[in-house]
Amino acid sequence: MGELVAVILAAGKGTRMKSALPKVLHEVGGKPMVQHVLDAARKAGCSRSVAIIGFGSEKVQTLLAGQAETVLQEEQLGTGHAVLQAQGMLEGHRGSVLVLCGDTPLVTEETLQQLCEAHASAGAAATVLTAVMPDPTGYGRVIRNAAGDVVKIVEQKDANADELAVNEINTGMYCFDSTSLFQALQQVNCQNQQGEYYLTDVIGILGGQGKRVWAYSTEDHEATLGINSRQQLAQAEKILRRRKVNELMVAGVTVMDPDSTFVDADVSVGADTVLYPFTWLEGKTIIGGNCTIGPNTRLTDVQVGEGSTVHFTYAHECVLAEGVTVGPYVHLRPHTKLQAGVKVGNFVEVKNSVVGPGSKLPHLSYIGDTDMGGGVNIGCGTITVNYDGKKKHRTTIEDEAFVGCNSNLVAPVTVGAGAYVAAGSTITKDIPASALGVARARQANIDGWAAKRK
Ligand code: UD1
Ligand code: CA
Repeated sequence: MGELVAVILAAGKGTRMKSALPKVLHEVGGKPMVQHVLDAARKAGCSRSVAIIGFGSEKVQTLLAGQAETVLQEEQLGTGHAVLQAQGMLEGHRGSVLVLCGDTPLVTEETLQQLCEAHASAGAAATVLTAVMPDPTGYGRVIRNAAGDVVKIVEQKDANADELAVNEINTGMYCFDSTSLFQALQQVNCQNQQGEYYLTDVIGILGGQGKRVWAYSTEDHEATLGINSRQQLAQAEKILRRRKVNELMVAGVTVMDPDSTFVDADVSVGADTVLYPFTWLEGKTIIGGNCTIGPNTRLTDVQVGEGSTVHFTYAHECVLAEGVTVGPYVHLRPHTKLQAGVKVGNFVEVKNSVVGPGSKLPHLSYIGDTDMGGGVNIGCGTITVNYDGKKKHRTTIEDEAFVGCNSNLVAPVTVGAGAYVAAGSTITKDIPASALGVARARQANIDGWAAKRK
């Protein structure tokens, strides 16, 4: 079969989405549709991908930069015309071409591999991926002769009554011999109901040349679903999420309620972790084994080490080491690192800070731009005063320090190792190691004051 290259059609607007965003950039399962297609193609063995772009090309190109070569189709004159745009880029390519659409995010590497294997073992010039649909309306129909060979593909709008009755459809995915494909495309015209250059005509043309045209029919309907509307987008979202959660369960993760657990495609979760309902694991999140996550937790691009517990929490772009406990009602903001055994309790926000091993921030605190050592105790209501209205400043809290309740640490400031901050202090000067910093008015008691007031 030689080298395998993917050509991904992604120039269309997606009129029925009613969106300013190109259709293929709409996200499903946490990433743009076309990204799913590209990932499946790469995993199926494509060494190069060429994307045909048109509507919203700058935005599509930005996403694809470094992942796929792109070629602009200035006017969308049909799928055949679209593939033809890749000819220049594939000059000299003597292997196979996998033609895919950017709007089929459910396609799996397995399905693509099966298509390519069928193509290779048939020694075909073209192999079309087909599926038998209960309702084939809207799709191109696969027309076979009495011997069962594929003769042509007819679009819904061009089909006669007999052809419309066929329920084996063209999924829009194909494997072609590169040379045969581009030769046949030269002969495609636009004499059809839609006045478009149809890629599907290549099938009939190759057959007419006496070349072998093959069809591989997949059982996996879902994998071929094309997204044209927001309803289909929601349908795909459900399928992808269910697939991902199933994968996790097969790998040893307990998911208490798959219907209310939302895990993006690229997330990984270790065995014996338990996901409670209403947990969102997004982006490049990586959860270790033996963790308890949720309920009501959203983690976006977060790493969590083994044996940690995170509940009722929103965290993004953070790293949590092993054995940490977070929640309830915690917000962890970007560039936060919680080292092993850290405990962050209710109503605490941590931003751009490192919290050393075993430190405790149990209640009602804001810790921002802070370098905290290990074994630190942060009293209830501690606030790092990190912003002077113009600039952010850092706070340093060294190992084993003890910060009393309701203290303000006005940055830049350092609380030395083993030092104490008296409760209710507003600390503006560094506290040396092992010292006590007190910064509050001394208490005076006025005897008999209440009686005099009356
Ligand atoms: C196409 C097939 C049909 C098949 C169906 C499967 C043709 C003629 N028909 O129909 O047999 O059943 O897919 O979903 O191929 N595109 C471009 N440039 C263009 C035209 C289209 O890049 O000039 C892209 C679109 O953005 C889309 C893909 O090609 O990603 C398919 O085009 P679309 O118009 O949706 O084709 P269908 O009518 O669905
Ligand atoms: Ca389509």
